[in-house]
Amino acid sequence: MNRLNILTFPDPRLRKKAAPITNFDSGLEKKANDMLFTMYEDKGIGLAATQVDIHERLIVIDLSEDRTDPIFIVNPSFVVLDSTQETSKEGCLSIPTFQQEVPRAKEIELSYQNLRGESEKLVADGLLGYCIQHEIDHLNGKLLVDYSSSLKRGRIKDKLMKMKDGKNKN
Ligand code: NI
Repeated sequence: MNRLNILTFPDPRLRKKAAPITNFDSGLEKKANDMLFTMYEDKGIGLAATQVDIHERLIVIDLSEDRTDPIFIVNPSFVVLDSTQETSKEGCLSIPTFQQEVPRAKEIELSYQNLRGESEKLVADGLLGYCIQHEIDHLNGKLLVDYSSSLKRGRIKDKLMKMKDGKNKN
């Protein structure tokens, strides 16, 4: 498995809208496993393909303590079952050091395909529900900073660009 490079804000590639997946082949499985490996290495709970510069509708999530219960989600869509807005503080591997309160629907029903192309459904609330909504935002080019003030967005942009400059000099 390969560790993939995670794009960081304000990289414009994070704004690309991901395309539906139609080929359920070994290439897809490899991409999914590389993404899972990368997410585990970076200690994340979810990763969207967009974040590793693959512009296809693929997400990996694992909320388990021991990191042994991954969910691979292809071509996701959801309907809201309970539209009560719940707000929690979210982080993102593409925006290191940044946290943002984001209102999300309390309960959703997710429809997706697994890596073999079979249709699946999943009812999700709490952290899993927020995580799915966060990752689907990525596939649509939307980021946590879009939920913050322009002042806060400007600050994190400056900070991450400085961090990147520092890295390139080494
Ligand atoms: Ni994220």
